[in-house]
Amino acid sequence: MSEAVIEYIGGPLLRARTEGPFGLYESVAIGEERLLGEVVRLDGDHITVQVYEDTTGLAPGRRLAGTGRPLSIPLGPGVLGGMYDGLLRPLDGFDSPFIPRGSFRERDQAYRFTPSVAVGERLSPGAVLGAAEREGAMDQQVLLPPDVDGEVVEIAPAGEYREAEVICRIENARGERREVAARQDWPVRIARPLARRLPVDEPLITGQRVIDSLFPVGLGGKAAVPGGFGTGKTVLLETLARWCSADVIIYVGCGERGNELTGMLEEFPGLVDPRSGRSLMERTVIIANTSNMPVAAREASIYTAVTLAEYYRDQGLHVALMADSTSRWAEALREISGRLGELPGEAGYPAYLSSRLADFYERAAKGETLAGKVGSVTVMGTVSPPAGDFSEPVTSHTKRYVRSFWALDARRAQARMYPAINPLQSYAEETSRLAAWWQARGNSDWPRLRRATLELLEEQTRLERMARIIGKDALPFGQQMRLLAAELLNDAFLRQSAFSENDRYASPERQTVMLRLLIRFADLAQQAVARGVTPAEITGLRIYRRLQRMGEDLPPDDLAAYQALGEDMERELQALAEEVTA
Ligand SMILES: Nc1ncnc2c1ncn2[C@@H]1O[C@H](COP(=O)(O)OP(=O)(O)OP(=O)(O)O)[C@@H](O)[C@H]1O
Ligand SMILES: [Mg+2]
Repeated sequence: MSEAVIEYIGGPLLRARTEGPFGLYESVAIGEERLLGEVVRLDGDHITVQVYEDTTGLAPGRRLAGTGRPLSIPLGPGVLGGMYDGLLRPLDGFDSPFIPRGSFRERDQAYRFTPSVAVGERLSPGAVLGAAEREGAMDQQVLLPPDVDGEVVEIAPAGEYREAEVICRIENARGERREVAARQDWPVRIARPLARRLPVDEPLITGQRVIDSLFPVGLGGKAAVPGGFGTGKTVLLETLARWCSADVIIYVGCGERGNELTGMLEEFPGLVDPRSGRSLMERTVIIANTSNMPVAAREASIYTAVTLAEYYRDQGLHVALMADSTSRWAEALREISGRLGELPGEAGYPAYLSSRLADFYERAAKGETLAGKVGSVTVMGTVSPPAGDFSEPVTSHTKRYVRSFWALDARRAQARMYPAINPLQSYAEETSRLAAWWQARGNSDWPRLRRATLELLEEQTRLERMARIIGKDALPFGQQMRLLAAELLNDAFLRQSAFSENDRYASPERQTVMLRLLIRFADLAQQAVARGVTPAEITGLRIYRRLQRMGEDLPPDDLAAYQALGEDMERELQALAEEVTA
């Protein structure tokens, strides 16, 4: 492999004079410690390298060596359940998210392999070789790499192996033999192949009403969570990580303060998986890059995460990837670009900010895997725009690539209306594709309910504006009632405490009955007012209070209780209307 001599070092970048050919994005090993780096610029007989570790102590004159391959991460059954830095290097324990420089150990976990193929079998690329089991992790599979195919010449019998051990020998049509181990490298900046992409036509169920019912994200879709300081981005992503319907969770803590991440690292291993009753960590991977870790590793971390997500997807699993925060990632990009002396674009970000964001979000997909199964990667990223201004570059470029946009609102957060998703600034595209999914679950009028809800919320804004000018009491009763119905919708449906036992997760069925109740209430109340009932008489009803608190008061799975609530509602409103007419 080619070598080069370091001439200049500046922060995470160094410049070296080459003594042989290097490729762009080739990974390199620097100095005796073999620090990890990546070639980011070629320039005659010089290369510029970004270094994924602290460069303190490196000096001009030291040598670096090419590896002949792009920056890659070691995938394998040993990853799940652990915590890593931006290049998938294991972080020791959960108490300290730091690795001493140059000291990372190669991961080589033991696992139990049970083959599902036999000698003589012909395999196509990406085929399943067998099952992989490990203490502390969900069951996984070992696949043939996407670029290997042929006849099985040798396959290991069931037993304990290490990830790097060869478990299969395979010979292709040209007679070339390949050795296959469970641990397989894959370049982070290149998407793993699918047999074909499938339409995103079912939702990722999150249990968050405002998301699933109004602004859903598809399984294999992509969503952004923009929000100013302290508006609840992290709590929302963590809630989704815990409750969403994905099989595997990949959580990237990107450039957040060290203490914030430590809090999460302490909490996560203790969380119980609502599905299995076991530790949630068994199907979770945490990638941690706090603000005090090397900036280049932060830049790579989101690609590492999505590569890992694709690896589980290829096993026929549904993966949810959460990145918090992509703004801190973009700042890393900006810092490196600045040091490279590139021409700065909007707000100092490089001109390729947008295409790099696309490289990340476009890897979200639902598809048929090479092994013929269906898997998906759903990507959700937070954005922290300075001063909550959504017109800044990271938010506006992100908007081009995501299909769901959950805008967090400082005013709602201050009013403790959590999750503080502003329904008028948020959107979800292609909801028409998801209607069939709801229909199959007994909610054929989901599109109608959703539309009625959004209309009521839009009307609320309009009426509130009017009320500010002329005073609420000056509005006609009909409009006052619309406002009250909208407020009820906010309180009873959109608001959902992440900390309430009954309310933190709402099944699609429960969401449907709740929304039906509230939209029905709005209609009945409107009719009653038309017959002469006053809005105050309606809000004075017992049912009004009960609707307001139904999420927290009623047991989550007791749909009959909602049914009864609905019957009481019809009765009370009916009685009131009759009283007036009598
Ligand atoms: N869904 C929720 N239910 C109840 N409380 C919440 C919810 N979301 C946020 N909060 C409250 O708001 C606080 C701030 O939330 P969070 O840390 O998620 O904000 P953030 O947007 O990630 O902030 P930063 O900009 O600092 O990263 C939380 O500590 C919590 O008290
Ligand atoms: Mg946060």
